[in-house]
Amino acid sequence: MTIAPPPTRDAAATRAAASVDRTIRLIATGAKSGATCTPELASGPWEFDRGPAGYGPGSSMGDVIPTGSPRQGSLPAEYREASDAELHDRIRAAKATLGERVVVLGHFYQRDEVIEHADFVGDSFQLANAALTRPDAEAIVFCGVHFMAETADLLSTPEQAVILPNLAAGCSMADMADESSVEECWEQLAEVFGDLGTPDADGRVPVIPVTYMNSSAALKGFVGRNGGIVCTSSNARTVLEWAFERGQRVLFFPDQHLGRNTAKAMGVPLEQMPMWNPRKALGGSSADELRDARVILWHGFCSVHRRFTVDQIAQARAEHPGVQVIVHPECPMPVVDAADAAGSTDFIVKAIQAAPAGSTFAIGTEVNLVQRLAAEHPQHTIFCLDPVVCPCSTMYRIHPGYLAWVLEELVAGRVVNRITVPETVADPARLALERMLAAKPPAAAGA
Ligand code: 13P
Ligand code: SF4
Repeated sequence: MTIAPPPTRDAAATRAAASVDRTIRLIATGAKSGATCTPELASGPWEFDRGPAGYGPGSSMGDVIPTGSPRQGSLPAEYREASDAELHDRIRAAKATLGERVVVLGHFYQRDEVIEHADFVGDSFQLANAALTRPDAEAIVFCGVHFMAETADLLSTPEQAVILPNLAAGCSMADMADESSVEECWEQLAEVFGDLGTPDADGRVPVIPVTYMNSSAALKGFVGRNGGIVCTSSNARTVLEWAFERGQRVLFFPDQHLGRNTAKAMGVPLEQMPMWNPRKALGGSSADELRDARVILWHGFCSVHRRFTVDQIAQARAEHPGVQVIVHPECPMPVVDAADAAGSTDFIVKAIQAAPAGSTFAIGTEVNLVQRLAAEHPQHTIFCLDPVVCPCSTMYRIHPGYLAWVLEELVAGRVVNRITVPETVADPARLALERMLAAKPPAAAGA
């Protein structure tokens, strides 16, 4: 799960090449050519945390933030004013003092200045499992986004505190499906299908709810209560197969693209995948269309992966004959169809690790991971499909200043920014996660 150190190149040069933060600063000051979607990213995130609630600069800054989203309180000046080198040394010192009492988890999309302090680096599912390997740690510092910290809390022991260094690090896609809108959708589906808990002659209920890991714990609880299941981008197909064994159709949220790409690959026709728009009656479909549906797709998307286009792929192929294009399944369907392969972040990492030296890759996923992979694999040519440097705005809010703060507070005996899922939600949410962990592809299940 941790990324192996690069075979060649000195460590400092690799770090500098991997740093999106550094790239943005160089572009913002004119020292490097290129474009970034928001030069304000060169400032500290506390500048944005002071302003009105928003996702901050980067991909997703234009998305509507729901009312009541967590805000981060002001970071003490000593962390805002510290140099990069000082923050680095303070994080190392605090970690050394805390020793085995703390484990720091870093999602692939985190900035490099944070990743270098992580004990585990991986995708959201791997990191949730990583927390399980350290039941002795009193604190799990999750350098990722809110739904990931919630999942770690669900899977860790009650004594362990899960800490999100910046409370404003949400996920705009997760926020596109709130519990009340999904409950409302469920009620409307009950009007069309009758009792949603009554199976047909084949033992299948009318609708199985499936939520992507990128959703609130409340929604994981909703699917747990209603016979449903959680999926990640690496097991979405297995989970849909699980759901089709138990249901006539699936309600998939929040990411329409992951749902559509996965179901299409399984042979579900596009006409049987209506979209559910929560602002319209019956989601914008007729009752007959819903009756005919196999997968009802929630109207959600990731603003980071929505930036990738078929034109970018055409350009990459024209400029780099032989390039392999790999994209994340959160990308729109035409982009996935035009790519050579689509898969989760872990799939992308493994494909690059397994490739023969001299390979060329154009990658359609978050730029921090792409730039790090390029720096760690100098034997390949690796670049981001999107020429504009535009990181996930919420992942980017975990600045080393916040990491230093939460760790030094732990050294002082104080737990700040703890993420706790209420017990009423936690039990059904765990059930939905356990169903996912137990779901096996049909071949493996038969073995
Ligand atoms: P993973 O589940 O692959 O970690 O992806 C998380 C994410 O936010 C993708 O956009
Ligand atoms: Fe959410 Fe997209 Fe950022 Fe992932 S990359 S945390 S889905 S906004």
